[in-house]
Amino acid sequence: PDGGASQSDAQVQFPTCVCLQVEKHLEPFRLSLEKLQDVSARLRKDMLRGLGKHAHHRAAVKMLPTFVRATPDGTEKGDFLALDLGGTNFRVLHVRVLEEEQRVLKMDSQICAIPQEIMLGTGEKLFDHIAACLAEFLDSQKLRGQTLPLGFTFSFPCEQKEIDKSILIRWTKGFNCSGVEGEDVVRLLKEAIHRRGDYDIGSVAMVNDTVGTMMSCGYRDQSCEIGMIIGTGTNACYMEEMKNVKRVEGEDGRMCINTEWGGFGDDGSLKDILTEFDEEVDKTSINPGVHTFEKMISGMYLGEIVRLVLLKLTEEKLLFKGCPSEALLTPGSFETKFISEIEDGLENAKKILTKLALDWDLVDACVARLVCDTVSSRSARLCAAALATIANRIRTNRGLDHLKTTVGVDGTVYRKHPNFSDELQAAVRLLAPKCDVSFLISEDGSGKGAAMVTAVAQRLALHCMLNFL
Ligand code: GLC
Repeated sequence: PDGGASQSDAQVQFPTCVCLQVEKHLEPFRLSLEKLQDVSARLRKDMLRGLGKHAHHRAAVKMLPTFVRATPDGTEKGDFLALDLGGTNFRVLHVRVLEEEQRVLKMDSQICAIPQEIMLGTGEKLFDHIAACLAEFLDSQKLRGQTLPLGFTFSFPCEQKEIDKSILIRWTKGFNCSGVEGEDVVRLLKEAIHRRGDYDIGSVAMVNDTVGTMMSCGYRDQSCEIGMIIGTGTNACYMEEMKNVKRVEGEDGRMCINTEWGGFGDDGSLKDILTEFDEEVDKTSINPGVHTFEKMISGMYLGEIVRLVLLKLTEEKLLFKGCPSEALLTPGSFETKFISEIEDGLENAKKILTKLALDWDLVDACVARLVCDTVSSRSARLCAAALATIANRIRTNRGLDHLKTTVGVDGTVYRKHPNFSDELQAAVRLLAPKCDVSFLISEDGSGKGAAMVTAVAQRLALHCMLNFL
């Protein structure tokens, strides 16, 4: 195409030839149903490896025991504190669980910013900051005198030894504080609180955000046995039969497993579906080679994938008359929320391309929308493949011909994108035809869910004690 063509030329001459050439770059993002079935089969094998007693050290999909052994039964009650670290913001919450009304109330909450220098600084500074935010919140709520139990939603891969002992395996999603990997996060939190010496907390329960999401939905719908996040990062948890959790003693009942499916592909098993753009995103991330699946799916990376595709098409003179703007050349400048906005309507696409100082015409705006749609569809379909793997596993675990189950979901990508959830659900129906999967959006899973985990742990401990007596 002629880079100097006028807009009307573009409309008349470009479409078919542009389409074919653009399609050449988008084709690797389009995953057929057969390919998704194949991806699901690979994940099934990796999940088994992760659950194994010895193989799990080398497993890309970690399948971490959470020590959450039951979903809520409606008898939980009390006041709790909750901390939520690992999503868009750091939050502190005061949560009340009312048994009589079967309700979880968020009494109050406060958002504290975590500045970039703390995200990349020392662990001690991070936990001092958390302890300071908690102190400020307790004062504002006049709760300083009480030692309330605390649920800590810490949304990173942790090897949990007990409900209150949790070793960080590695940072993800842009955090990289020194001296925390390999350490017990509960100990680091308690040490920071003791360093201050001006307040204390009760028992602590460590919770991944997927688990919090499952538990908060589990209170409303007792068939909720899967929790899924598609936000800054992506991950899921589900209730697994204890006899299959080889790393934890005991054969009876179930335990919630945090799959950490974001790490799927870290051993090279997804090489055939990675595009040149995925490889570039990985190479320029702060953790190359790690969380391959997450980098194809979640909010932290989708915008950057789209930017790289747009840039490539511009270099090939298929977009913006071959002229990238300064903004398009800048990593991170294409925010993931632009994808939702652009897919929502062509007028938005025009506004965003103007904001990025691009010299666009109508064809460019349509192509940009197509790129967004292709990248977000792949994300939804890959999530569907992974979710279908879990649903199929629960069904076969229980020897059922047909499984009816509910997934508690949260995350900005799932919530905000105009058709992500429809696309995901449609693909799950095809990939898990013997499962009837309902979706429940979690209302503040990371906060209320953390309180629920703490409340269920207390209920089980009390039950255990009464049995003992
Ligand atoms: C990342 C974390 C995981 C978390 C997910 C969603 O994948 O490793 O623990 O659940 O993000 O926030």
